[in-house]
Amino acid sequence: MPAFASLPPRLTTNDYFSSMTDIRKRLEDLHHRQAQSEVGGGPVRVAAQHKKGKLTARERLDLLLDPGSFTELDRFVTHRATDFGMAANQPLGDGVVSGWGRIDGRTVYVFSQDFTVIGGSLSETNAAKICKVMDLAVRNGAPLIGLNDSGGARIQEGVASLGGYADIFLRNTLASGVVPQISAVLGPCAGGAVYSPALTDFVFMVRGVSYMYVTGPDVVKTVTHEKVSHDDLGGADVHAETSGVAHFVHASEPECLMAIRTLMSYLPSNNVDEPPALPPSDPIDRREERLLTLMPDTAAKPYDMHEVLHLVVDDGTFFETMPAFAGNILTGFARFGGRPVGIVANQPAVLAGVLDISASVKAARFIRFCDAFNIPIVSFVDVPGFLPGVAQEHGGIIRHGAKLLYAYCEATVPKLTVITRKAYGGAYDVMSSKHIRGDVNLAWPSAEIAVMGAKGAVEILYKEEISKAKDPAAAIAGKTAEYEELFATPYLAAARGYIDDVIDPRDTRLRLIDALQTLTTKRDRNPPKKHGCIPL
Ligand code: HXC
Repeated sequence: MPAFASLPPRLTTNDYFSSMTDIRKRLEDLHHRQAQSEVGGGPVRVAAQHKKGKLTARERLDLLLDPGSFTELDRFVTHRATDFGMAANQPLGDGVVSGWGRIDGRTVYVFSQDFTVIGGSLSETNAAKICKVMDLAVRNGAPLIGLNDSGGARIQEGVASLGGYADIFLRNTLASGVVPQISAVLGPCAGGAVYSPALTDFVFMVRGVSYMYVTGPDVVKTVTHEKVSHDDLGGADVHAETSGVAHFVHASEPECLMAIRTLMSYLPSNNVDEPPALPPSDPIDRREERLLTLMPDTAAKPYDMHEVLHLVVDDGTFFETMPAFAGNILTGFARFGGRPVGIVANQPAVLAGVLDISASVKAARFIRFCDAFNIPIVSFVDVPGFLPGVAQEHGGIIRHGAKLLYAYCEATVPKLTVITRKAYGGAYDVMSSKHIRGDVNLAWPSAEIAVMGAKGAVEILYKEEISKAKDPAAAIAGKTAEYEELFATPYLAAARGYIDDVIDPRDTRLRLIDALQTLTTKRDRNPPKKHGCIPL
């Protein structure tokens, strides 16, 4: 029989009108279902959400994405549970709104958990929706942004829900270093719900709204007899200042969502693309006289490295990550001549810029993110060394400091270094030195590159002489001056080529932009391997 014989017979006029009615009915039904899926948990629960100072899942997406750019997927998905009365409660979309949208015209994949629907809890099907956008993000090389607001595993579904979490964790891990992953925690996040955000690259929290803990205050009280509030256990400030889980804290959800857009402006869509360059908005040869005077007369006096950064980067704009954690090292994004860079800078104004456990871990993670996503790293160095002390040694400063060393060593993106003042001891090696493949290493004339500070060195080198001296203080002062004359300069390092040039601080911006330009074609690779064994 010919193939066309199976085609339906041609429509008569009557058939045509009845089929139109059918389509209209079907459209009506579709619109009804769409409207149903958009109301989430209904007006009462939406009002309760607003009363807590929280936005709904869809309101959040409206603020996050370019207007009208959101395309929803899976809005008709329902869960499959039947026990515990769930058969009669089958909300469309099943507690998460997912799909794609655009930020400044670039595609991002998103999911936004809807707390008004069964507490935004994670069911088997809800997890499948999230996994679908994660897979699309990786396949299409676009960032993934998750807006988390969930009571955790859906209790009625048991292991099906736990499996859903594991499916997400696996995808978070496989997507790591392939596309940027950003999490906003905009509600409670307990149990397994904390681990997906924890696996992502940046975690945003909102004060008074966001909570993250493996077990909440009630369980803590039962197990350890500690009484602690939600805020003190897992609030935004605790995670930004103490645990280091959160990279950003904001006072409101709109502010948080805008900050995600800003962060995105520095990031490429994936690990193959270049970060988004903008037309230069600030003269590349801008010189700042203030760079000559901001350095204090003596090495013991602090200054604020933020000021240096503001003077040299495009438009004075430094988008700082983890600003409340380990303030002795600064990390964040900026632009030079329109090109995004990651900045790592010792901060002499906090603990003299010393490297401790927290600073090492903070900077190591940031460097690895930049390296994964082709973002050049510019390091500003003023570091007295690693922090001595029993607490640091017993806390594992050797292991954690090694993370920073490892991260700098393995990074193959362009690495530029400016030593502004101290670069002592192992910290000189660690902070993007020439020896670990720094591409362009510059120093200001105020740089001091030595095994240790002059006083410490003299006390070791001339211990006996000083102890026998009639005036030990004068002896120390004399020897210190001698040592400083010899070692407290950048010229011994420059004589060996460890420093490429000693520059006028006012030229820092121009020199960095020029060097970055030469490095746009940099090609460097590490030896082939499955993965390295970073000392975690
Ligand atoms: C099913 C849940 C739910 C959950 C909340 N709801 N969490 N339903 N499973 N996990 C429902 C509530 O029954 C309620 O339904 C609605 O969501 C709103 O919750 P409320 O309790 O009224 O809201 P609130 O007072 O704001 O309290 C929020 C909360 C609390 C702190 C999140 O709901 C809570 O403690 N939930 C349980 C948290 C939890 O222990 N989750 C499991 C974690 S273990 P109605 O119909 O009354 O409005 C886990 C394991 C994963 O996640 C491990 C993977 C490795």
